[in-house]
Amino acid sequence: MTTFRRTFISAAAVAALGLATFGATTAQAQAPTLPKLKVGLMLPYTGTFAALGTAIENGFRQYVAEQGGKLGGREIEYVKVDDESNPAKATDNVNKLIKRDNVDVLVGSVHSGVAMAMAKVAKDTNTLLIVPNAGADAVTGAMCAPNIFRSSFSNWQPGYAMGEVMAKKGYKKVVSITWKYAAGDESVKGFKESFEKGGGTVVKELSLPFPNVEFQALLTEIAAAKPDAVFTFFAGGGAVKFVKDYSAAGLKKSIPLYGSGFLTDGTLDAQGADADGIMTTLHYADSLGTPRDNAFRLAYAKTYKMQPDVYAVQGYDAAQILSAGLTAVKGDTTKRAEFTAAIAKAKIDSPRGAFSLSKAHNPVQDIYLRQVVGKENKVIGIASKSLADPGIGCKI
Ligand code: PHB
Repeated sequence: MTTFRRTFISAAAVAALGLATFGATTAQAQAPTLPKLKVGLMLPYTGTFAALGTAIENGFRQYVAEQGGKLGGREIEYVKVDDESNPAKATDNVNKLIKRDNVDVLVGSVHSGVAMAMAKVAKDTNTLLIVPNAGADAVTGAMCAPNIFRSSFSNWQPGYAMGEVMAKKGYKKVVSITWKYAAGDESVKGFKESFEKGGGTVVKELSLPFPNVEFQALLTEIAAAKPDAVFTFFAGGGAVKFVKDYSAAGLKKSIPLYGSGFLTDGTLDAQGADADGIMTTLHYADSLGTPRDNAFRLAYAKTYKMQPDVYAVQGYDAAQILSAGLTAVKGDTTKRAEFTAAIAKAKIDSPRGAFSLSKAHNPVQDIYLRQVVGKENKVIGIASKSLADPGIGCKI
């Protein structure tokens, strides 16, 4: 009896085990369960760029959601850090994400100074980094690396495109005004390069420390200098205040204001009529009207109950870039050469228009000329077709 029972149970157990093993093997062959992929979002959630950080995260999550929550077969898990757009805290913040949180990929940031600190740590530790905004030229220049990618732009790109536009318009004397840090300096440098090539002169370069918004003394200087026009780089909360102050000072009527498109992107609700008519250059606009962009905008508005902007697009495309690499290696981020090669070959189907990455991993993209009409940055035309950052100093 005992023997019989034991035999009986054994037979049943073996059968069950066999079934279980068979089931597991089949399931594994169909869908290997890979661990979640940890994405470290290092973005500003407070301060003058807070809305930009949120838009980037929204865009990133939208693309992941459209893929069913997985990229390259791996479910995505987020770890978030508010970098406060503070370069002094950036190295500690990024080290925490890498060492404490063990992230597989870093996504950040908005501020050029923060992004340069991230790029340095990413390079030293060989951690994957996708920059979803910050334009610091060095990130895809002297600091470029096989593991560093950018889904946005270099500071040089919109500035250079605007220099050509304003030279063609026949302006001769321009004053520039911006925040004194990499993004401001490099935007003006790019502008100056093409504007002076086209016969113009930047007669005065005005600046104030980031993120100050006490513009009054500088606006008085602009009025006194009486230039043909003004070129500027400001973004986020600072851009809102600058456009309002420029108008309140009475300058809007007498000295036309131009800028990199960040001046009027994601800011129009707050700027109101003070932004009306302002022309800017950027790699996105609100009225592209392509099926791709229409679908993106509709889905974004539905999910987040607000209109997308350039930052949302850059976040969305950061996820697309990650997806291109991960898909090629079936989620195995240790296969770095294949991961990087797949991204290098990829055509990113962006709402802004399809783009590929340069050798230094910066988007080669059309820069649009836009004009504010009501609550939209309307496309006037393409200021610069397939504009590639020169990637100075990049050796990969
Ligand atoms: C930058 O610091 O690189 C930066 C910040 C905000 C922008 C664009 C560039 O809108």
